[in-house]
Amino acid sequence: MRKKSIQGMLDFAQTTQGLRKELSAFDLTMLGIGAIIGTGIFVLTGTGATVAGPGLVLSFIIGALACGFAALCYAEFAAMLPISGSTYTYAYATLGELIAWIIGWDLMLEYALSASAVAVGWSGYFQSLLASFGVTLPDALSAAHGARPGVASVFNLPAFTVSLLITALLAFGIRESKKVNNVVVLIKVAVVVLFIALGMWHVEPVNWEPALPYGFSGVFHGAAIVIFSFLGFDAVTCAAEEVKNPERDIPRGVIWSLGICSVLYVIVAAIMTGIVPYTQFAGIDHPVSLALQVAKLNWFAGFVDLGAILGMLTVILVMTYGQTRILFAMSRDGLLPKVFSELHPQYQTPYKATWTIGLVISLVAGLVPLDTLAELSNIGTLAAFSLIAAGVIILRRKEPHLPRKFHCPGVPYIPALAIVFCVFLMTQLASLTWLCFVVWLAAGLLVYFGYSRRRSLLHAAA
Ligand code: ALA
Repeated sequence: MRKKSIQGMLDFAQTTQGLRKELSAFDLTMLGIGAIIGTGIFVLTGTGATVAGPGLVLSFIIGALACGFAALCYAEFAAMLPISGSTYTYAYATLGELIAWIIGWDLMLEYALSASAVAVGWSGYFQSLLASFGVTLPDALSAAHGARPGVASVFNLPAFTVSLLITALLAFGIRESKKVNNVVVLIKVAVVVLFIALGMWHVEPVNWEPALPYGFSGVFHGAAIVIFSFLGFDAVTCAAEEVKNPERDIPRGVIWSLGICSVLYVIVAAIMTGIVPYTQFAGIDHPVSLALQVAKLNWFAGFVDLGAILGMLTVILVMTYGQTRILFAMSRDGLLPKVFSELHPQYQTPYKATWTIGLVISLVAGLVPLDTLAELSNIGTLAAFSLIAAGVIILRRKEPHLPRKFHCPGVPYIPALAIVFCVFLMTQLASLTWLCFVVWLAAGLLVYFGYSRRRSLLHAAA
């Protein structure tokens, strides 16, 4: 139950020479959008449309509300504690070491597995681009075992390779990564906006009927899947120690990136289900391109493929980045081995953490299918969102006078809504996903009680 002192953490962040501070609100918004728009909108919308029909629009609105409520809670914490490590760090100061550990362990599920999931989505688009040039990979190297019915696949080589390349980029430092990210984000936002501008003229309102072919249960199931599309806004908070003016810029980065993407997603969902009858999305892993083909905009479908390929790269980048910073923070607190917080003498990046996690992400991307990865990533994230929302309520009661540079509005109602939405969406996920989640948590507790508890710096200080 031991907690870090908030004042102590702020003093530490101010006095130590850690990561370089060079990100602005604009960079953070770009970092957020870079993490948000990816496999969710480019691949999983097809799955969502299959289970929700035109009600997919409602699924996206529900997902946006759940994440919006959680984002307001994140923003309050991030502005108060601009310290690396995201939710893990906030929990350490409010809910105690054990809960912080559980959240950190959960976040590994979110960041690492979503990075792997997006690498798999990327690989699908990449292989379809290769195919248009007449190049095909051997079946064995095209996907994880069991990912494609009827295909004897073993390992997803493109997904593995792309994750490793991104790891190398991150090991060189945030400055280089940021520039790459900004350019790619502009390209993918342009692709999505163009899809909206061109696609809207091809909507046939008759495709929106019946609006809810599978009723509200379809809508909720769809929301539990497409929530993956919104993950990433919280990665903004992982960069806290590298931001020039964190109190002002982090809440802006979180809220702007999520707001912009939510509006784009809801419109894209309406247009996609308006162009293509929802039943045709079954088994399609390029739903956006399909809509363009149906609308006879084939010339644009190629651009979308290219935009998706570039766009998903930044998602892998930001998710891997977030994961390395969480490892960094947990290691700095003594809960994980010290090697994960060693900085590179020249690039000042936690390069050992980066290479370790990058290798894990790459192997998982090579070996596990997309749907499994996305569901597991969703459950870990939703659990972390619920805990952080609870943290906002608890801290307002216990420490009402702490300086809060950003106030989550409507406390306790907004955080309570965040908890209700997230827990409800968790209940919509498959029982196998729950089983894996519980096993993962149990493993985390073993590590905590077997290693971290006694090595914690707070324990040593006490
Ligand atoms: N939101 C990210 C994506 O959809 C994880 O790819």
